[in-house]
Amino acid sequence: MAKVLIIGAGGVGNVVARKCAQVSEVFSEIILASRTQFKCDRVAAAIDKPITTAQVDADDVGQMVALINKHNPDLVLNVALPYQDLPIMDACLETGVDYLDTANYEPIDEAKFEYRWQWDYRDSFEDAGIMALLGSGFDPGVTNVFCAYAQKHYFDEIHHIDIVDCNAGDHGHPFATNFNPEINIREITQKGKYWQDGQWIEIDPMSVSMDIDFPEVGIRKGYLLYHEEEESLVQNITGLKRIRFWMTFGAAYINHLQVLQNVGMTRIDPVEFEGKQIVPLQFLKAVLPDPGSLGTNYTGKTCIGCIFNGVKDGQQKNMMIYNVCDHAEAFKETGAQAVSYTTGVPAMIGAKMMLTGQWKKPGVWNMEQFDPDPFMQALNQHGLGWKILEGKTLKQ
Ligand SMILES: NC(=O)c1ccc[n+]([C@@H]2O[C@H](COP(=O)([O-])OP(=O)(O)OC[C@H]3O[C@@H](n4cnc5c(N)ncnc54)[C@H](OP(=O)(O)O)[C@@H]3O)[C@@H](O)[C@H]2O)c1
Repeated sequence: MAKVLIIGAGGVGNVVARKCAQVSEVFSEIILASRTQFKCDRVAAAIDKPITTAQVDADDVGQMVALINKHNPDLVLNVALPYQDLPIMDACLETGVDYLDTANYEPIDEAKFEYRWQWDYRDSFEDAGIMALLGSGFDPGVTNVFCAYAQKHYFDEIHHIDIVDCNAGDHGHPFATNFNPEINIREITQKGKYWQDGQWIEIDPMSVSMDIDFPEVGIRKGYLLYHEEEESLVQNITGLKRIRFWMTFGAAYINHLQVLQNVGMTRIDPVEFEGKQIVPLQFLKAVLPDPGSLGTNYTGKTCIGCIFNGVKDGQQKNMMIYNVCDHAEAFKETGAQAVSYTTGVPAMIGAKMMLTGQWKKPGVWNMEQFDPDPFMQALNQHGLGWKILEGKTLKQ
């Protein structure tokens, strides 16, 4: 029986609140706070368990500390934006409360994400006797757990990992992003990179692509991007020689993105407009569809997983672990499309692991550093069943 404080009432926050409410034997009290109070109230009104709502600017450590002290939660579950990670971690330190998020910190004025800023809290969290679990979404999150599970049960050494992320759904809009547009577009338009033989190799944005055959979805073009879970996995997976991350995009999405880039709408530096400073990408976010509203009439599926190559008992081995999630089914259950769903469910499961003591250790941790078995079991139990495909390689 525990009290959870969820920060952020967007697409993912809605799913987290609903999934926590389904598991009332663990989450006996839920508080949902965000920058805009009515968004919290809207989520709470759609859930048949009582949810307390609050307004907070999570960039302000003082406001966060006051909110935590008022409600005295056992865990703060951060599904606001990556910019808020550090102020929320500071507030958790000040109040002695555990912390969980789904995306690593990014400075607002530079599209660059790395764990360094959050890993710097390792000693202070450990000294305070509190825990932070980083990246408990799908990717990062479930993909890290898939890697830990493959390492524990299927390989002596994993040599190559390709994380493959496909959204083969159709939301019916000419252009929309499936999670926060600002964060999504910053991720895609920065340089890509992958890790091979001990070093990072940088590539121009979206300059490397490949047709990938996704189980239950079919062949889609995947683009090589940098993704944050690669940074911790290179440290925690035995014998790794290469790790890459691929995400699929349709031709219409790429065309829209190119035009938006060409006209300067994806810039993150402020420009002067009618006497005011505005950031073009933030303005673009204001006119694009809200990811949380995309679920209605969304058809098709997501397929996200990891393709492994390595050695077991002296033999070469290839396999894939993956999940397929149906947009319409996710919508029916939570009023959200599959991208919010596949992020919100693992966030709830990560919190459940911590609050039930199955994953509990003072310090700052990435997902693959814990026993994957209870998390894998919980995925099956809470709506994200997974499968194993023996012999699967990236090329076939
Ligand atoms: N690991 C994964 O697999 C994965 C996948 C997708 C997304 N994510 C992460 O999940 C998080 C949420 O994504 P989303 O799609 O739900 O985004 P979203 O729909 O834009 O929701 C973000 C929410 O955070 C709130 N917020 C923003 N700044 C705040 C502040 N200073 N104080 C308090 N609340 C604030 C927003 O409030 P307003 O509405 O008032 O602006 C909004 O309700 C993001 O960090 C994203 O990167 C992770």
